[in-house]
Amino acid sequence: MRYSKKTMKLRMDYNNMMQSVIGKEGYTDEDINALEQELNKAFDSVEQGKGKGMMGWADLPYNQDAIVEDIIETAKDIRKNFEYFVVLGIGGSALGPIAAFQAICHMHYNDLPKRKRKGPKFYVEDNVDPERMEALLDVIDVEKTMFNVITKSGSTSETMTQYLIINSILQAKLGDKAKEHIIATTSKNAGNLIKIAIKEDYKTFYIPDGVGGRFSELCPVGLLPAAVVGIDIKGMLAGAKFMMEECDSANVRKNPALMAAALQHLSMKKGKNIGVMMPYADGLKFISDWYAQLWAESLGKNKTLSGKDCNVGQTPVKALGVTDQHSQVQLYAEGPFDKVITFLGVDEYRTTVEIPSGCEDYPNVNFLCGHTMNELIQAERKATEYAVTKAGKLNYTVMLPTLNEFTLGQLLMYFMLQTAYAGALLNIDTFNQPGVEEGKNATYALLGRPGYDEKRMELANAPQKQNKYVI
Ligand code: PA5
Repeated sequence: MRYSKKTMKLRMDYNNMMQSVIGKEGYTDEDINALEQELNKAFDSVEQGKGKGMMGWADLPYNQDAIVEDIIETAKDIRKNFEYFVVLGIGGSALGPIAAFQAICHMHYNDLPKRKRKGPKFYVEDNVDPERMEALLDVIDVEKTMFNVITKSGSTSETMTQYLIINSILQAKLGDKAKEHIIATTSKNAGNLIKIAIKEDYKTFYIPDGVGGRFSELCPVGLLPAAVVGIDIKGMLAGAKFMMEECDSANVRKNPALMAAALQHLSMKKGKNIGVMMPYADGLKFISDWYAQLWAESLGKNKTLSGKDCNVGQTPVKALGVTDQHSQVQLYAEGPFDKVITFLGVDEYRTTVEIPSGCEDYPNVNFLCGHTMNELIQAERKATEYAVTKAGKLNYTVMLPTLNEFTLGQLLMYFMLQTAYAGALLNIDTFNQPGVEEGKNATYALLGRPGYDEKRMELANAPQKQNKYVI
């Protein structure tokens, strides 16, 4: 499908970050100008890094033609032959598929009759809660299910546990044919899943070496699940490519991702260490989860690139408009000046719902009649923006003309670039996650994985908990 760049372009409105609008908490043009050197440096380092090291994600809109065709063909076969499609993965190997599914597919996709769905019923198992695994097995028929095991490292305990459970059920039911129900998405060069996939002869898609989990939605990690449920993956990639073009200038006023990074950087320097993501669209609800991982794992670091202690990062908080106006906005308006709120809005929702008349005797209800839900949600977004701005709380808005594959691709790339620039401004390694690895390694040690004896000793020698502190 073709999308118009002119009418489908994302807009970033950062008025409410500026002193002229928000008052003393805000920034001046001079504050932004004063960052010029740092911004040039950050921009250059991202430009020079693109496609290299762990920035392989920047090439994904350009270098996947053959892979995309393979994915589309595979998805076609899956739609023809399977009634359920289950992703087994966690973190970066699950959050993107969940976000894209929620953004593009019907809000009650799995409840639709088959003829109204574009693909099989869709589930993402991104935990190891035994109750959830049992619940999944209650609602799917494994003999009619394709399982997509996604893990870049090929050894994440949660994902491999799920794989072991599913594979043993498939083996018991289908014997040699079990392999026809599993697709592996993993690194070509590392980890155990690739070895298992070769041995078992699974259909396999590869996660490029330079694409980390949280930057992987636009590679087969996200593209296969998306294509299976009928999402136009070429449209997503085209949107991402368009955003790369929109952000190809070192001039911060022409590069929306660089501007977002600059404003967040200024804010973090002033101690605004909480970043709220508040979409006004249920379709974007899980973009907040995807973004939370991207922002938290990328920026939460304790050393700069030159090895100095730093302990930086901004805590991402997820909120949904208008739902969380009734739970969190009180805090955002009247609480501490420690946050930056990013509102996401949609100009045109994909449907219009009218509010019928029927309350003429009650003027305080009747005022709603004759409007649409669309007008109501827009008014509430603007009203909340106004309220927090009046309270002097920093916020900016990213508007999508509508929610489709092209605007989704733009949004994903916008946030990935913003994160890369923000990491460069902080002079940290944006693309590693030693804090996550520490937890993974401790799990391996606790469960007796070979090679983790030293870690087991370390855990045994850690300060012991005392009963007096348990009540
Ligand atoms: O961002 C990351 O690298 C992590 O959060 C991973 O996505 C997560 O731990 C899953 O890793 P893997 O894909 O190797 O199973």
